[in-house]
Amino acid sequence: MTSQYKKFTKLIAKWPVDASKGDRDLGKVIRDKVKVAFEASNKQNLDSELCNRQYNALNKIADNHYRDKYKRTKQSTATGLSPEECNVILSNEVLTYLKEENKGFFRKIFQRERLHSKHYKDHTPVMLNEVIKHMKPSDNELYIDMTFGAGGHSKKILDSADCKLITLDRDPVAFEKAKELSKLYPNRVTPLLGRFSELPALLKNIDVKQSSIDGILFDFGCSSMQLDNGERGFAVSKNGYLDMRMDAGRDPNQITAREVLATANEHELYKIFKIYGEEKKAAKIAQTIIQARYMIKNIDTTHELVDIVDSCCPDEFRLDKLQRPQSNATKVFQALRIFVNNELNELNYGMVLSKYYLKLNGRLVTICFHSLEDTIVKRHIAGNIINETANPVPLRYLSPMLVQDQDTINQFLDTPWKAITKHVEVPSENEVERNPRSRSARLRAAIKIK
Ligand SMILES: C[S@@+](CC[C@H](N)C(=O)[O-])C[C@H]1O[C@@H](n2cnc3c(N)ncnc32)[C@H](O)[C@@H]1O
Repeated sequence: MTSQYKKFTKLIAKWPVDASKGDRDLGKVIRDKVKVAFEASNKQNLDSELCNRQYNALNKIADNHYRDKYKRTKQSTATGLSPEECNVILSNEVLTYLKEENKGFFRKIFQRERLHSKHYKDHTPVMLNEVIKHMKPSDNELYIDMTFGAGGHSKKILDSADCKLITLDRDPVAFEKAKELSKLYPNRVTPLLGRFSELPALLKNIDVKQSSIDGILFDFGCSSMQLDNGERGFAVSKNGYLDMRMDAGRDPNQITAREVLATANEHELYKIFKIYGEEKKAAKIAQTIIQARYMIKNIDTTHELVDIVDSCCPDEFRLDKLQRPQSNATKVFQALRIFVNNELNELNYGMVLSKYYLKLNGRLVTICFHSLEDTIVKRHIAGNIINETANPVPLRYLSPMLVQDQDTINQFLDTPWKAITKHVEVPSENEVERNPRSRSARLRAAIKIK
């Protein structure tokens, strides 16, 4: 995003619309004007000096800088200025300039992205040895890799025994890779394209019945192929349209992250960022997005979103788990991705399906990268699931009056799983050093016992 665009975005962040003033509110007048200017397309050359002057003037009004010098005479507007005076503050020249300046910027970025977008690396599989240790692949058995990605885990399973493997992924790019792998292992691999929630229909098509699978693997989250391809809109570091659909264009009804930002209201955005991203500045970021989309335009690109979030955390310098600098927008991106792909419901459904499709003594291995994911997995394995849904109320918060008989307690604790891993397993220091993306991995394994 250009410096000018960025400055104006920050400006509106501290200038909320006074809804009680209706069309006479200066904040609203300016937002409307800027919005119209961004929709117009006339090219005009303008020195940024005028833009700066007008920005400074607006900024001072937003800060109520002149409150002692110029007393408010018109109580009907947020600033005491008349609509005519407002018009002078932000000229059409400045507005057209802002738009043109922005356009050039995006052209540059997208040219650069197009040049580099195809050069992404394959996904490095996480906790490979631990997965094999718990899955124990054996000859003539049948496994499902529910999250094929680039096939790192699948390949290792196929190399460990003369077994058969069904691969699933919702991403058409991953599906193509699975088809390639199936050629390398003739008659051993069946690639499927779809989500966990589509699996029963897909398995029915290939005549696979319930209680017929020996091992199921989930490696939740995003693959490096998705993250590293700027055009898919997953990554804070790569500019691209905010798409984030793992299914790409496969499902015409699935909305993109851009559409979420353009249509959700402030409270909905707040909830997405707070719950799925555990973002402490969720309220401020949601408010700024609404104001930016009202004043300037919808948030279309990853870098626009990064700049919006940065404008809400001006003096913050965040670090990741390895104490490396991390973008302020990482959690917001994660939250949007989880929401767009309905990831937690899919995960919950995937766990329910595992119970039905595994044989007795079949093995389940899961790798989570997010505490919300791990909580759902943990509750399935340890119990505390009601009607196939992770119970949101931990047992310790239940009133003794509610959990008064042993039957009720047993219902909470009933589980078809026996955990193999005593606690959650994490990658070795060595692995984290080699592959920093493995740093948040949490592995759990269980056997189906009933
Ligand atoms: C972390 S990657 C898996 C990487 C893989 N284990 C490997 O070694 O390359 C996660 C993959 O799961 C897929 N995925 C996520 N949610 C899914 C769902 N609900 N149904 C099917 N695939 C899903 C994503 O598209 C992505 O390719």
